Amino acid sequence: MRGQDAGRRPAAGPAGAEAGLGPLAASSASAYVADGQGPEARLLAPQAGPTEQAEEVTLRPRRLAEFVGQPQLKEHLGIMVEAARRRGEPADHMLFAGPPGLGKTSLAGIVANEMGAGLRVTSGPALVRAGDLAALLTNLNPGDVLFVDEIHRLARPVEEILYPAMEDFQLDIVLGKGPAARSIRLELPRFTLVGATTRTGLITGPLRDRFGFVARLDYYDVADLEAIVRRSAGVLAVDVDPAGGAEIARRSRGTPRIANRLLKRVRDYAEVRGEGKVDLAVARSGLQLFQVDELGLDKVDRAILDALCRRFGGGPVGLGTLAVSVGEEPETVEDVYEPFLLQLGMLMRTPRGRVATAAAWDHLGLAAPSTAAPSTAAPPSLWG
Ligand SMILES: Nc1ncnc2c1ncn2[C@@H]1O[C@H](COP(=O)(O)OP(=O)(O)OP(=O)(O)O)[C@@H](O)[C@H]1O
Ligand SMILES: [Mg+2]
Repeated sequence: MRGQDAGRRPAAGPAGAEAGLGPLAASSASAYVADGQGPEARLLAPQAGPTEQAEEVTLRPRRLAEFVGQPQLKEHLGIMVEAARRRGEPADHMLFAGPPGLGKTSLAGIVANEMGAGLRVTSGPALVRAGDLAALLTNLNPGDVLFVDEIHRLARPVEEILYPAMEDFQLDIVLGKGPAARSIRLELPRFTLVGATTRTGLITGPLRDRFGFVARLDYYDVADLEAIVRRSAGVLAVDVDPAGGAEIARRSRGTPRIANRLLKRVRDYAEVRGEGKVDLAVARSGLQLFQVDELGLDKVDRAILDALCRRFGGGPVGLGTLAVSVGEEPETVEDVYEPFLLQLGMLMRTPRGRVATAAAWDHLGLAAPSTAAPSTAAPPSLWG
């Protein structure tokens, strides 16, 4: 399985140093990772921390059949890959969009594996100059999968040389400057570009149009998360009974990465405080100790709701004020905490500020004032 090995090998060229999966983490500007201090220490952050990135390799599904959930996407992808394989061509370029931790990177690896192709990994911020991308592209083998994480963060000049590369497998390079400048055209091997983004709204039209397949990953339902916990428990050799697994799944915020993380923490708890077996009681008391409540909210989530309801009477209150009152940066509140509170319909973003809905008052065990906004269903796009 050439694809997997290639995935761990740093790619050649100037972008090479950034191209392995490890260094990618450092450059990916995920400000809130799960290891370390401050917001980084957050058990429920959807982003992976540096050590976690390395650990994820073992839990990552490698074949389409192991990828849990997202049935439509899986079927579509399966057909595309199978058809391309029969024609003996690389698959069409594809773009995966969705919140962190839902399986975009996993899917890129799966496409390479299913195609029996090599995988090269890089990211938008790692490709600083057009030459970085050119070096990567000219080093591809025919049929390779080039995975560009955070593709919405590509610099303009880099993005522009990507267009002809995606469309015609050609690279236009300008040599020299001024009147003496001339451009040469290089033929590239045919390849499949797989892009991933957490922000579809930031992908430019021309780039988006060059993908043959654009898929959005959605939050997972509890049944899928249970299946993921079961699968991961098997890989990690953790003894989890169905009720224990279901409890972990329920508190995982619809996110496989968080399900895996809670599983590992509950396993630790079971080993130290129990007999190593994760059942309902152990899962509950472990998660309680880690301050993850029944809905998957943690201390900071609850502090935000608490400030909104108790201190500001349900709002509206400005993001900055809200952030200060819980001791977090506004960006942290906006990018890390709010999406899930919005998803649960507990919080609304209005032009005048943040507003708590009746569901937020309920969750805190407080009586909602008659003026409280009714709970909203999840908006269709939380992260676009
Ligand atoms: N459908 C799935 N089935 C099983 N496990 C999954 C699935 N999706 C994600 N995972 C698990 O969640 C972890 C995180 O997934 P992945 O790294 O692919 O997410 P991502 O969307 O690339 O996140 P980010 O935006 O932070 O890069 C993986 O290591 C894998 O174990
Ligand atoms: Mg990823």
